[in-house]
Amino acid sequence: MIQLDPHDDRPLAIDFFCGEGGASMGYHRAGFRMLGVDKEPQPRYPFAFRQGDALTLLPELVEQYRPAAVFGSPTCQTKCRVTEWRGSRDNHPDLLTPTLEAFEALGLPYVVENVPEAAWDDTMRADYLLCGTQFGLNVKRHRVFQQGFWSGFDLLPPHRCHRNKKLIPFEHKDERAFADALGCEWMTNLGGRQAIPPAYTEHIGRQLMAYLGADQVAAA
Ligand SMILES: C[S@@+](CC[C@H](N)C(=O)[O-])C[C@H]1O[C@@H](n2cnc3c(N)ncnc32)[C@H](O)[C@@H]1O
Repeated sequence: MIQLDPHDDRPLAIDFFCGEGGASMGYHRAGFRMLGVDKEPQPRYPFAFRQGDALTLLPELVEQYRPAAVFGSPTCQTKCRVTEWRGSRDNHPDLLTPTLEAFEALGLPYVVENVPEAAWDDTMRADYLLCGTQFGLNVKRHRVFQQGFWSGFDLLPPHRCHRNKKLIPFEHKDERAFADALGCEWMTNLGGRQAIPPAYTEHIGRQLMAYLGADQVAAA
């Protein structure tokens, strides 16, 4: 298992519900040192990793590592319309609400991601919605993001994914080509199915990094 390098002085961020690391990879490319947390073992996760329940570990890890920021992408089955195809959304725990509450209580800069449906019922704010076509990817993968305790986000030009005929349809989500199209070549097909494209979080992370830098200058 990869351990945190104590000599690495980049700002540390903890990515809760990290999966195989799509979101983490983008934040890493933006300049963060990453520690991932997931309840499942994640042998493909490319950074330092801790296995366990995210909300149980959160206070302990924040106390121990004093991260500059926290990120979270709780499972979305309770919100997804596609969950209804296979069963009921009520059979899945709502991890999004307690994650938002825990991050708000911390007071650290945070970003929480979920499916657009999570904003339709006001469980979270869609401070921005990102689409793969905004980053030149051949997938839609619409995802919404709520940010807390930091500001400054450049909105991207509107996307026209409904016109784009080259996109890989969601029905191919279990295939290798889908994970690759997200930019998640190191993942299993299943990891890719759940992943946030690294391009999204690299874009967000670069702006958070600029905010943190400006904040430090202001505090000096
Ligand atoms: C949407 S996926 C995360 C995708 C990941 N952020 C990425 O970009 O590749 C949600 C993850 O939450 C994990 N998970 C579910 N319940 C959890 C819990 N209580 N504590 C920690 N991780 C949990 C799942 O194992 C899964 O890997």
